[in-house]
Amino acid sequence: MLSCAGCHSLAGVKLNGPDLSHVSLWPVGQLKPAIKRMEQRVGPLPDGDVDALADLLRAPNVRERLKAEEARIQAMFMAKLEPANAAIGKKLFFGKTELQNGGLACSACHAAAGEGGNLGPDLTSAFSRIGETPLISGIEKAGYKIMEPHYRWRPVTKQEAVHLTKYLSTLDPKMAPAGRPAFAHVGAGGAMAAMIGLVLYLRNGRKGRETKLQRRRK
Ligand code: HEC
Ligand code: HEC
Repeated sequence: MLSCAGCHSLAGVKLNGPDLSHVSLWPVGQLKPAIKRMEQRVGPLPDGDVDALADLLRAPNVRERLKAEEARIQAMFMAKLEPANAAIGKKLFFGKTELQNGGLACSACHAAAGEGGNLGPDLTSAFSRIGETPLISGIEKAGYKIMEPHYRWRPVTKQEAVHLTKYLSTLDPKMAPAGRPAFAHVGAGGAMAAMIGLVLYLRNGRKGRETKLQRRRK
């Protein structure tokens, strides 16, 4: 299931492929050919593997089993990374250190511990609400609709996601702004986020376009 998880989730997140929660209800006769078709993407899937994957996806406890598997894989990845460091995570969050691939600092859109923007939800209680493993992969994959376009070409590395998550884990969830869901204006936030993306795009693209214009003038 490792190679499948790169494109499919069971937690309602759309990656490159559709979320697979709904296929547990599919008849086996429909599910197996759908899995077999994935050979185009993951390489040969012998019948035994297809059967095992179909059984897994139809099992009532598939989420628990995958969570255990994910935790195991996460632990394996973690072993290769620098230990999580909250101070580094805080610098990344507030843009004191640039993200390796040039993405916007999180604080452009999110506040934590009372500081930062408000286009995205306040993240002071994110760690306690979301949990460590899903938070790391959510940040790394930018598995959130409005964030995704911004980070698609400037992905946050797993190492950075680990530091950022560590930073968020040090915040006191009780300090999160009280009252209605911190983030009530998805529409406006989305428009603003899209605008920030556009501004960055224009800034990066201007050079190229100017030369094109100059060429046209000649
Ligand atoms: C490189 C990305 C990628 C990988 C890896 C991948 N898939 Fe997919 N999968 C897709 C995409 C895109 C679709 C939707 C289009 C299609 O059906 O081809 C899909 C569709 C499916 C569907 C049908 C779901 C539906 O709602 O139509 C199933 C079932 C599925 N994949 C299972 C798997 C399994 C099991 C694995 C691992 C062996 C896997 N996939 C690996 C990208 C991927
Ligand atoms: C361009 C604006 C923008 C930037 C930059 C941004 N985010 Fe987001 N983020 C959002 C928005 C908007 C949402 C709300 C959900 C969505 O995207 O649809 C969100 C959702 C989230 C969530 C889920 C919150 C919840 O309460 O469920 C987390 C966690 C998160 N972002 C972490 C980060 C981190 C860490 C960074 C820095 C690497 C970051 N974001 C950078 C806009 C942004």
